[in-house]
Amino acid sequence: MKLLSLRSILASTLVVLGMASAGAVPLKDVVSSDGTPLLPENYRSWEFLGTFSGLAPDKNGSHEMHTVYASPGTVEYYQENGQYPDGAVLVKEVMETDTENLTTGRISYATKTKGWFVWIKDRKNRYPESKLWGDGWGWAFYAAGDKPALQTKDYKTDCLGCHVPAKDTDYSYVRGYPVLGTGHGASKSAGQSMTSSEE
Ligand code: HEC
Repeated sequence: MKLLSLRSILASTLVVLGMASAGAVPLKDVVSSDGTPLLPENYRSWEFLGTFSGLAPDKNGSHEMHTVYASPGTVEYYQENGQYPDGAVLVKEVMETDTENLTTGRISYATKTKGWFVWIKDRKNRYPESKLWGDGWGWAFYAAGDKPALQTKDYKTDCLGCHVPAKDTDYSYVRGYPVLGTGHGASKSAGQSMTSSEE
Protein backbone atom coordinates (compact mmCIF):
# COMPACT_ATOMS: atom_id res chain seq x y z
CA MET A 1 0.00 0.00 0.00
CA LYS A 2 2.76 2.35 1.04
CA LEU A 3 4.60 1.58 -2.17
CA LEU A 4 1.54 2.36 -4.24
CA SER A 5 0.89 5.78 -2.74
CA LEU A 6 4.54 6.74 -3.01
CA ARG A 7 4.37 5.75 -6.63
CA SER A 8 1.30 7.85 -7.35
CA ILE A 9 2.82 10.85 -5.58
CA LEU A 10 5.91 10.49 -7.72
CA ALA A 11 3.82 10.10 -10.86
CA SER A 12 1.77 13.23 -10.19
CA THR A 13 4.93 15.16 -9.34
CA LEU A 14 6.39 14.18 -12.68
CA VAL A 15 3.21 15.29 -14.43
CA VAL A 16 3.42 18.67 -12.70
CA LEU A 17 7.03 19.03 -13.76
CA GLY A 18 6.04 18.13 -17.29
CA MET A 19 8.42 15.20 -17.32
CA ALA A 20 5.87 12.51 -17.88
CA SER A 21 5.86 12.99 -21.63
CA ALA A 22 6.41 9.48 -22.77
CA GLY A 23 9.51 8.07 -24.40
CA ALA A 24 11.12 11.39 -23.65
CA VAL A 25 14.54 11.73 -25.23
CA PRO A 26 15.16 14.99 -27.07
CA LEU A 27 15.00 14.08 -30.74
CA LYS A 28 18.14 16.10 -31.49
CA ASP A 29 20.08 13.70 -29.25
CA VAL A 30 19.11 10.69 -31.32
CA VAL A 31 18.83 12.06 -34.87
CA SER A 32 21.66 13.75 -36.79
CA SER A 33 21.05 17.00 -38.67
CA ASP A 34 20.62 15.03 -41.91
CA GLY A 35 17.99 12.79 -40.34
CA THR A 36 20.06 9.71 -39.53
CA PRO A 37 18.90 7.83 -36.40
CA LEU A 38 21.92 7.78 -34.08
CA LEU A 39 23.05 5.13 -31.61
CA PRO A 40 22.15 6.49 -28.15
CA GLU A 41 24.99 6.32 -25.64
CA ASN A 42 23.20 5.40 -22.44
CA TYR A 43 20.61 2.93 -23.73
CA ARG A 44 21.69 0.24 -21.25
CA SER A 45 20.33 2.33 -18.42
CA TRP A 46 16.98 2.69 -20.21
CA GLU A 47 13.94 0.49 -19.79
CA PHE A 48 14.37 -3.21 -20.48
CA LEU A 49 11.80 -4.73 -22.86
CA GLY A 50 13.05 -8.26 -23.37
CA THR A 51 15.68 -10.66 -24.71
CA PHE A 52 15.51 -12.98 -27.71
CA SER A 53 17.87 -15.92 -27.79
CA GLY A 54 18.95 -17.33 -31.15
CA LEU A 55 19.71 -21.02 -30.87
CA ALA A 56 22.65 -22.75 -32.47
CA PRO A 57 21.97 -26.49 -32.45
CA ASP A 58 25.64 -27.29 -32.97
CA LYS A 59 26.63 -25.36 -29.85
CA ASN A 60 23.88 -26.89 -27.70
CA GLY A 61 23.09 -23.38 -26.62
CA SER A 62 22.42 -19.91 -27.87
CA HIS A 63 24.59 -18.38 -30.58
CA GLU A 64 23.25 -14.85 -30.23
CA MET A 65 21.23 -12.80 -27.80
CA HIS A 66 19.15 -9.80 -28.74
CA THR A 67 18.41 -7.49 -25.85
CA VAL A 68 15.88 -4.74 -26.43
CA TYR A 69 15.82 -1.45 -24.50
CA ALA A 70 13.43 1.51 -24.76
CA SER A 71 13.81 5.15 -23.83
CA PRO A 72 12.43 6.23 -20.44
CA GLY A 73 8.63 6.35 -20.20
CA THR A 74 7.99 3.91 -23.04
CA VAL A 75 6.83 1.00 -20.88
CA GLU A 76 4.32 2.99 -18.86
CA TYR A 77 2.93 4.63 -21.99
CA TYR A 78 2.57 1.29 -23.74
CA GLN A 79 0.86 -0.30 -20.75
CA GLU A 80 -1.68 2.52 -20.73
CA ASN A 81 -2.18 3.05 -24.45
CA GLY A 82 -1.26 -0.22 -26.11
CA GLN A 83 1.17 1.49 -28.45
CA TYR A 84 4.59 3.13 -28.48
CA PRO A 85 4.72 6.87 -27.80
CA ASP A 86 5.86 9.20 -30.57
CA GLY A 87 9.61 9.76 -30.23
CA ALA A 88 10.22 6.51 -28.36
CA VAL A 89 13.67 5.11 -29.10
CA LEU A 90 14.25 1.36 -29.12
CA VAL A 91 17.66 -0.25 -29.25
CA LYS A 92 18.15 -3.93 -29.98
CA GLU A 93 21.66 -4.90 -28.98
CA VAL A 94 22.93 -8.03 -30.71
CA MET A 95 25.44 -9.93 -28.61
CA GLU A 96 27.69 -12.93 -28.97
CA THR A 97 27.32 -15.63 -26.35
CA ASP A 98 29.20 -18.23 -24.41
CA THR A 99 27.57 -21.45 -23.23
CA GLU A 100 28.68 -23.39 -20.18
CA ASN A 101 27.44 -25.80 -17.59
CA LEU A 102 26.69 -23.70 -14.55
CA THR A 103 25.06 -24.83 -11.32
CA THR A 104 21.65 -24.01 -12.85
CA GLY A 105 22.16 -26.16 -15.94
CA ARG A 106 23.50 -25.59 -19.42
CA ILE A 107 23.48 -21.83 -19.71
CA SER A 108 24.19 -19.30 -22.45
CA TYR A 109 25.02 -15.74 -21.56
CA ALA A 110 25.78 -12.60 -23.54
CA THR A 111 29.38 -11.53 -24.01
CA LYS A 112 30.42 -9.16 -26.78
CA THR A 113 28.34 -6.70 -28.79
CA LYS A 114 28.06 -7.34 -32.53
CA GLY A 115 25.82 -4.43 -33.39
CA TRP A 116 22.78 -2.34 -32.64
CA PHE A 117 19.41 -1.91 -34.34
CA VAL A 118 17.99 1.53 -33.61
CA TRP A 119 14.36 2.44 -34.00
CA ILE A 120 12.68 5.80 -33.45
CA LYS A 121 8.88 6.00 -33.33
CA ASP A 122 7.66 8.66 -35.74
CA ARG A 123 3.97 9.46 -36.01
CA LYS A 124 4.60 12.77 -37.77
CA ASN A 125 6.35 11.63 -40.92
CA ARG A 126 9.28 13.86 -40.00
CA TYR A 127 11.68 12.87 -42.77
CA PRO A 128 9.57 12.06 -45.85
CA GLU A 129 12.63 12.26 -48.15
CA SER A 130 14.83 9.97 -46.08
CA LYS A 131 15.34 6.31 -46.95
CA LEU A 132 15.85 5.61 -43.25
CA TRP A 133 12.36 6.75 -42.25
CA GLY A 134 8.93 5.42 -43.06
CA ASP A 135 6.08 3.14 -41.97
CA GLY A 136 6.03 4.98 -38.66
CA TRP A 137 9.68 4.53 -37.71
CA GLY A 138 13.24 5.73 -38.22
CA TRP A 139 15.43 2.69 -38.95
CA ALA A 140 19.20 2.11 -38.62
CA PHE A 141 21.71 -0.64 -37.93
CA TYR A 142 25.18 0.05 -36.55
CA ALA A 143 27.86 -2.64 -36.67
CA ALA A 144 30.23 -2.77 -33.69
CA GLY A 145 33.92 -2.07 -34.29
CA ASP A 146 36.41 0.62 -33.38
CA LYS A 147 33.47 2.93 -33.89
CA PRO A 148 29.82 1.98 -34.47
CA ALA A 149 29.34 2.01 -38.24
CA LEU A 150 26.02 2.73 -39.91
CA GLN A 151 25.15 -0.08 -42.35
CA THR A 152 21.65 0.85 -43.41
CA LYS A 153 20.97 2.49 -46.77
CA ASP A 154 17.27 1.90 -47.29
CA TYR A 155 14.96 0.56 -44.59
CA LYS A 156 12.57 -0.83 -47.19
CA THR A 157 15.17 -3.31 -48.44
CA ASP A 158 17.31 -3.60 -45.28
CA CYS A 159 14.66 -3.91 -42.58
CA LEU A 160 10.99 -3.78 -43.45
CA GLY A 161 10.47 -7.23 -45.00
CA CYS A 162 11.51 -9.04 -41.83
CA HIS A 163 9.19 -6.90 -39.73
CA VAL A 164 6.07 -7.41 -41.85
CA PRO A 165 5.05 -10.51 -39.82
CA ALA A 166 4.70 -8.14 -36.83
CA LYS A 167 2.77 -5.50 -38.77
CA ASP A 168 -0.32 -5.78 -36.55
CA THR A 169 1.72 -4.65 -33.58
CA ASP A 170 3.35 -1.69 -35.35
CA TYR A 171 6.06 -3.96 -36.83
CA SER A 172 7.34 -4.69 -33.31
CA TYR A 173 7.90 -8.20 -31.97
CA VAL A 174 6.06 -7.35 -28.75
CA ARG A 175 5.47 -11.03 -27.98
CA GLY A 176 8.97 -10.99 -26.45
CA TYR A 177 8.22 -8.16 -24.01
CA PRO A 178 6.27 -9.47 -21.00
CA VAL A 179 6.65 -6.09 -19.31
CA LEU A 180 4.32 -4.54 -21.91
CA GLY A 181 1.60 -7.05 -21.06
CA THR A 182 1.63 -8.29 -24.63
CA GLY A 183 3.64 -11.51 -24.42
CA HIS A 184 2.24 -14.99 -24.56
CA GLY A 185 3.03 -15.30 -20.87
CA ALA A 186 0.97 -12.16 -20.07
CA SER A 187 3.11 -11.38 -17.08
CA LYS A 188 1.86 -7.87 -16.56
CA SER A 189 -0.70 -9.48 -14.27
CA ALA A 190 2.01 -11.67 -12.75
CA GLY A 191 3.87 -8.49 -11.82
CA GLN A 192 0.73 -7.03 -10.33
CA SER A 193 -0.08 -10.07 -8.23
CA MET A 194 3.48 -10.08 -6.91
CA THR A 195 2.99 -6.51 -5.76
CA SER A 196 -0.31 -7.26 -4.06
CA SER A 197 1.06 -10.29 -2.21
CA GLU A 198 3.75 -8.03 -0.77
CA GLU A 199 1.16 -5.62 0.59
C1 HEC B 1 16.42 -11.07 -40.99
C2 HEC B 1 15.23 -10.38 -40.56
C3 HEC B 1 15.36 -8.99 -39.95
C4 HEC B 1 15.97 -7.89 -40.51
C5 HEC B 1 16.71 -7.78 -41.82
C6 HEC B 1 15.74 -6.80 -39.58
N1 HEC B 1 15.02 -7.24 -38.50
FE1 HEC B 1 14.62 -6.18 -36.82
N2 HEC B 1 13.92 -7.85 -35.92
C7 HEC B 1 13.68 -9.06 -36.55
C8 HEC B 1 13.09 -9.99 -35.61
C9 HEC B 1 12.62 -11.42 -35.92
C10 HEC B 1 13.04 -9.32 -34.36
C11 HEC B 1 12.58 -9.88 -33.03
C12 HEC B 1 13.26 -11.17 -32.68
C13 HEC B 1 14.77 -11.15 -32.72
O1 HEC B 1 15.40 -10.17 -32.33
O2 HEC B 1 15.36 -12.13 -33.18
C14 HEC B 1 13.54 -7.97 -34.62
C15 HEC B 1 13.60 -6.98 -33.66
C16 HEC B 1 13.96 -5.67 -33.90
C17 HEC B 1 13.93 -4.62 -32.93
C18 HEC B 1 13.42 -4.75 -31.53
C19 HEC B 1 12.04 -4.12 -31.47
C20 HEC B 1 10.93 -4.99 -32.00
O3 HEC B 1 10.08 -5.37 -31.23
O4 HEC B 1 10.88 -5.29 -33.21
C21 HEC B 1 14.37 -3.49 -33.54
C22 HEC B 1 14.53 -2.13 -32.92
C23 HEC B 1 14.67 -3.84 -34.90
N3 HEC B 1 14.42 -5.19 -35.09
C24 HEC B 1 15.10 -2.94 -35.84
C25 HEC B 1 15.48 -3.30 -37.12
C26 HEC B 1 16.06 -2.37 -38.08
C27 HEC B 1 16.28 -0.90 -37.82
C28 HEC B 1 16.38 -3.10 -39.17
C29 HEC B 1 17.09 -2.65 -40.43
C30 HEC B 1 18.32 -1.91 -40.25
C31 HEC B 1 15.98 -4.48 -38.91
N4 HEC B 1 15.42 -4.54 -37.69
C32 HEC B 1 16.19 -5.52 -39.79
C33 HEC B 1 14.00 -9.36 -37.85
C34 HEC B 1 14.75 -8.56 -38.69
